[in-house]
Amino acid sequence: MDRFKVGVIGCGYWGPNLIRNFVEIPQSDVVIVSDLREERLSHIKASYPQIEVTKDYQELFDQDLDAVVIATPPVTHYPLARECLQHDLHVLIEKPLTTKSEHAEELIQIAETNGMVLMVGHTFEYNAAVQTLKSLVDSGELGQIYYLDAARLNLGLFQREMNVLWDLAPHDISIMRYIMGIPPISVSAHGMPFVFEGIHDVVYMNMVFPENILAHIHVSWLDPCKVRRLTIVGDKKMVVYNDILNLEKIKIYDKGVDHLPYTDNFGEFNCSYRYGDILIPNIRFIEPLRQECQHFLECIKNHTEPVSSGQDGLEVVKVLEAAQRSLDKNGIHQEVIHW
Ligand SMILES: NC(=O)c1ccc[n+]([C@@H]2O[C@H](COP(=O)([O-])OP(=O)(O)OC[C@H]3O[C@@H](n4cnc5c(N)ncnc54)[C@H](O)[C@@H]3O)[C@@H](O)[C@H]2O)c1
Repeated sequence: MDRFKVGVIGCGYWGPNLIRNFVEIPQSDVVIVSDLREERLSHIKASYPQIEVTKDYQELFDQDLDAVVIATPPVTHYPLARECLQHDLHVLIEKPLTTKSEHAEELIQIAETNGMVLMVGHTFEYNAAVQTLKSLVDSGELGQIYYLDAARLNLGLFQREMNVLWDLAPHDISIMRYIMGIPPISVSAHGMPFVFEGIHDVVYMNMVFPENILAHIHVSWLDPCKVRRLTIVGDKKMVVYNDILNLEKIKIYDKGVDHLPYTDNFGEFNCSYRYGDILIPNIRFIEPLRQECQHFLECIKNHTEPVSSGQDGLEVVKVLEAAQRSLDKNGIHQEVIHW
């Protein structure tokens, strides 16, 4: 059985979750971890004495690795990933893939030329609840989709190097793009930097998908309540995904509005409301990050394109760029040029 040697760059807040998964998966060994901070390396060494640690990521290139996982701040993704791909290493990069679309395009190009797997950590695409939402849309159970509405709110964690759009919205953009099977065609965004100058901590974003399907994303580090919710409204049924709940994350509402050809009831005009059952599907939940890490290794083994491929990452970066342009222009609609 193939067993892949993995190196990890970045073990701050998120990196240790990736390290734990690659340590626990029988098909991979985490050989070396790099971070600029000594205390983070000591923390990893204390939990995993068998892993080598270094402050210099260049040492990863002397370890005969198969793959590198990058969990550093987004501005560093491009230079680190480019160097890894140039050393013929498969690369899994945390979201967002890069902070500029031309950088993402270059990474895709190098990966293709060198025959390497390039994958972005859009974790929610490996989440069983999100996969259930996609099958509800694809099967037509919800009917024609009218709109999607997402909220990802909390008090914190404030970032100093990027705004809340680049920090939190990649999750919801990638979820919506995955569910719809296509990226949005235009975007507008409003927001404000309330706490730190120049760093937006609240953003309201509107997107339009083909066939005039609307989408709205509200992201905030400045909200009293922790909210992780996505609603999808179709002409047959509606569904709410509440990621905060441990059980019963998805509720499918057989609710809607039916047009009537005529009515005697002036008050109801010519429509009637349908209040049907609420179904809570039983979802077999496996840690999404475990699925993501396993998928990365399978793509390396089988030479296949990941679900969250470099192209997928690029499309999300293009939406973020368009949203940032709109934020900078007080909410003016921006086209998203995908090719
Ligand atoms: N998928 C998810 O749900 C999820 C959740 C949180 C964060 N993330 C992503 O993970 C990435 C890291 O986020 P974080 O919250 O862990 O940030 P963090 O700041 O806590 O950790 C980043 C670490 O990278 C290290 N680093 C920076 N440059 C380096 C270099 N050249 N060589 C070695 N180490 C270097 C820093 O010292 C730091 O310890 C980001 O891209 C973020 O968007 C993803």
